[in-house]
Amino acid sequence: MNLAPLTTLGIETSCDETAVGLYHRERGLLGHRLFSQTELHAEHGGVVPELASRDHVRKLLPLVRQLMGECAITPSDLKGIAYTRGPGLIGALMVGSTVAQTLAWSWQIPALGVHHLEGHLLAPLLSQEPAPKPPFLSLLVSGGHTLLIEVPALGEYRILGETLDDAVGEAFDKTAKLLGLGYPGGPALARVAETGDPARFKFTRPMINRPGLDFSFSGLKTQVRSQVPADPDPQMIADIARGFEETVVDTLAIKCKRALQQTGLTQLVVAGGVSANRQLRQRLTTMSREQGWQVYFPPLDLCTDNGAMIAFAGSLRLATGESSDASPPVARWSLESLKPLN
Ligand code: KG4
Ligand code: ZN
Repeated sequence: MNLAPLTTLGIETSCDETAVGLYHRERGLLGHRLFSQTELHAEHGGVVPELASRDHVRKLLPLVRQLMGECAITPSDLKGIAYTRGPGLIGALMVGSTVAQTLAWSWQIPALGVHHLEGHLLAPLLSQEPAPKPPFLSLLVSGGHTLLIEVPALGEYRILGETLDDAVGEAFDKTAKLLGLGYPGGPALARVAETGDPARFKFTRPMINRPGLDFSFSGLKTQVRSQVPADPDPQMIADIARGFEETVVDTLAIKCKRALQQTGLTQLVVAGGVSANRQLRQRLTTMSREQGWQVYFPPLDLCTDNGAMIAFAGSLRLATGESSDASPPVARWSLESLKPLN
């Protein structure tokens, strides 16, 4: 009997994680693996694009081989290969797309370019029981993006608000650097903030008194800078970190509430690296409970970049009949230009 293959291999190389995942249409996520380049970039205090691309070249194929071996998946089990086509660092994207296209060509299966943010956005649907169903509001908070998105149907995205300058994750990273907390800053700052006093430092919550759903986080970083003395003690660093985190969480919660009230939507789906933040998860959960809304988050290991979300988004797109697409990777790509997923 010749059963149709149902597994999609996902490849993610848009920034500093080399990541792969295998998603089976009926059995769900079979597995995912990633290699983080954190150590490689740490001494530079941020991602060095050329080093990122070179390391993807070294790590990607062994990681594909390892995951397929662990999950006992052979090329003939694969329906297709989904890879991140953009947005991201162009050299890093080139590695993932070239490897995906080459493997797909030699295994005679489709290779499909997936939008990185659609991957993030759909990650909370991957393993939730019950999973959120459109229409819903999505808050996407990552290192490169801060977006409020109305999702009337899968694959249809309307941006309601976005950051005018720094993304939330970027604000976490830059503030952590300012406080001497190293790289990557978001998780480090959140860890230190756990022991901080939320009442000691009060920062102005950016743009909450203006109408609309846009964000701005670069001024907050400047507010923090003005408070840090030349030689701060560890408690002061923890208190400043907590004050910063509270301000960010408040601002995001206020804008989510406004967007849900304006649209009449009752489900909030949070995604992207910053959705791993414990204070943010708690605040949005409490707010949603009080208002009678539902809130969904990805599992912690699928908040930051991973190959599972790319395999999942690719699997949904392949199931609708989308086939090979050899278009080159793109550093910028509008989420609103995607084809609906039905
Ligand atoms: O989604 P992601 O892995 O990569 C991009 O697509 O940008 O997000 C990475 C961002 C980084 O800025 C990182 O500092 C932030 O997510 N991040 C966090 C936490 N974990 C990761 N920020 C705050 N709290 C966390 N626990
Ligand atoms: Zn990402």
